Amino acid sequence: MPVTNDSPLPRAAGAGQLSGRHIVLGLSGGIACYKSAELLRELVRAGATVQVVMSEAAEQFITPVTMQALSNRNVYTSQWDAREPNAMAHINLTRDADAVLIAPASADLIAKLVQGRADDLLSLLCLARPVERCPLLLAPAMNREMWAHPATQRNLTQVVADGATLLGPNAGDQACGEVGDGRMLEPLELLADTIAFFQPKALAGKRVLITAGPTYEPIDPVRGITNRSSGKMGFAIARAAREAGAEVTLIAGPVALDTPRGVARSNVTTAAEMYQLTMAEAPRHDIFIATAAVADWRPAKPAEHKLKKDGSGQVPGFEMVENPDILAAVAKLPADGPQRRPYCVGFAAESRDLLRHAQEKLQRKQVPLIVGNLGPETFGRDDNSLLLIDADGGQHELPRADKLTLARQLVADIAGRLARAGETAPQAKT
Ligand code: CTP
Repeated sequence: MPVTNDSPLPRAAGAGQLSGRHIVLGLSGGIACYKSAELLRELVRAGATVQVVMSEAAEQFITPVTMQALSNRNVYTSQWDAREPNAMAHINLTRDADAVLIAPASADLIAKLVQGRADDLLSLLCLARPVERCPLLLAPAMNREMWAHPATQRNLTQVVADGATLLGPNAGDQACGEVGDGRMLEPLELLADTIAFFQPKALAGKRVLITAGPTYEPIDPVRGITNRSSGKMGFAIARAAREAGAEVTLIAGPVALDTPRGVARSNVTTAAEMYQLTMAEAPRHDIFIATAAVADWRPAKPAEHKLKKDGSGQVPGFEMVENPDILAAVAKLPADGPQRRPYCVGFAAESRDLLRHAQEKLQRKQVPLIVGNLGPETFGRDDNSLLLIDADGGQHELPRADKLTLARQLVADIAGRLARAGETAPQAKT
């Protein structure tokens, strides 16, 4: 069973991801305000400039001084703030903002937004913001009974219909001692969702299946055959596809990497396990991206117990058999019907003659797109360069960059190919 990761992205994954963005961070009243200081810190770490606006109720939970120190900017709490020369803080604050993020968004604040009320600076600036270019993100936080109340649910439906995006909430322990829906997302979860929000939704409504990492083929209970694939490229593609709005299933060999937020991950060890799970999953997906470095061969009969030296200097011999080719098998599924094939993208990890080998793999595996890279220049590294080769003879290079940047470019490229292929055909021509 795949496990969907609803946990935050690791802190390092946010680095620089909000550079150049200006965010208005609004706090309405709620105990979750204590998390907003940490959220502010993470937004700033990710490169954003952040203007904090607090409601009167929020000031009961955390002081403006804390938020001023962390944002390095004056905090606004009143529409009567005399510091603005034109006395129009409610207009000025959102004119250069890329988004208004309200965390926590209380039940009362959401009710006000729905009614278009504007009796304090925070609700007023939401009403006065230019809706076309300044989106509104809400991170609700409230007691589970308040969350479940029909009035709140009605308001949530309406605020989303009016264009707001909800981030969360989570279910779990609440400050009041009760357990249920309504807990605000953690700061790193909000950071991940904010970063994802700004990515184009090129794969909205699509299902993407990805294999990643190496496989491990046991020789005996303590030894095995594997390779140097780190899984970083495949995990970056999973994150990029999720950020692009896809539902993502990730089948991972043995790697020590965090699951990207919102991605459903299944762990496997051997090529045979990866093959079985991939074949079961493939037909319900629109796109299959095979980044895994699958072991070509496996010991035919792994020893039941550890192989021992017998002192003779004799090296143990064992028979090897070929593993199934997962990508080729998925590409051979029929074009239509319940077992239909997804649009298949292969990777080619080579040590030389990248173009020739990649073209040969495209033919041999009968896939519409192969992404070539040089193994020694990518395995374990955080950056890479890619050469895209398609079945129509097209070639396109993605120059050296960090793997997340490349993954986003690749996802955009694949989405463009699908769109051009007319969306209707599940498999582009091969
Ligand atoms: N692949 C696969 N199943 C295998 C072997 C490879 O799905 N048993 C996929 C990889 O995930 C990749 C593509 O096929 O998308 C090419 O993998 P690569 O290891 O570069 O090539 P091989 O097919 O193994 O050929 P060779 O080892 O001869 O280069």
